[in-house]
Amino acid sequence: MAKSKLVVANWKMHLNVAQSLTLLMRLDKNIERSRDVEVVLAPGAFALHPLSREIKQNKFLLAAQNAYQKDEGAYTGEISFTQLRGLVDYVIVGHSERRIYFGEDNNTVRNKVQAALRNGITPIICIGENTHERHAGHTKRVLHDQIVTALGNVTSQEIKHVVIAYEPVWAIGGGTPATVVQIEEAVACIKDNVRDLYGKKAADELRVLYGASVDEEFVGSILSIKGVNGLLVGGASLHYKKFAGIVAATQKADGK
Ligand code: PGA
Repeated sequence: MAKSKLVVANWKMHLNVAQSLTLLMRLDKNIERSRDVEVVLAPGAFALHPLSREIKQNKFLLAAQNAYQKDEGAYTGEISFTQLRGLVDYVIVGHSERRIYFGEDNNTVRNKVQAALRNGITPIICIGENTHERHAGHTKRVLHDQIVTALGNVTSQEIKHVVIAYEPVWAIGGGTPATVVQIEEAVACIKDNVRDLYGKKAADELRVLYGASVDEEFVGSILSIKGVNGLLVGGASLHYKKFAGIVAATQKADGK
């Protein structure tokens, strides 16, 4: 069975509730529903509930951009996966901005992956090397460490409910994505690591996204890369025409 492709809009810390609803309305008008492409919106946490009341079922799904790994308790200011249960299908976990600005390390990411799975939410685990690591020739080792730790307690049943996004930190927000060869190598490395941990079938079935400076013009070439099943889009997802174009191009692309 062909895997459905996934396009995730990460709105980051942009837009208030009214602006989020306006963007949703524009996306709704400009995006055609398709069975083969899941379109996932990740607005600010406060906009999740209002958006959930407006989105058309089967057209858009919701994701949170982050959540805290404890299910409940005295953790002022945090939102748990348990609180998001029933509201979102996905949570982005371990985004490089969380790692850089909020000190999340691989162990934190592992705890969040566990919390997501325990609450029936699919984690989209973001991994990727920074400039220094790439130039030092450490990309594969960094990806290996990020994957192995994040999946530390994930069972062979649970791996089916995990998505991994390759997001080279040096290409985020820069306007130019990684090259096809760089993405190909990273995705092969992700698949190899998952194969070593869970076997070939699990690696073949794993959904892998690419994210960092995705724009409409690059969609065809990125999605033609073996093992890439979708896109995580930041900046371009805030412009309805650009994001609708990315979704349309994904619907057209021959996913592998
Ligand atoms: P970008 O962000 O598309 O603006 O590069 C991607 C991301 O951070 O997920």
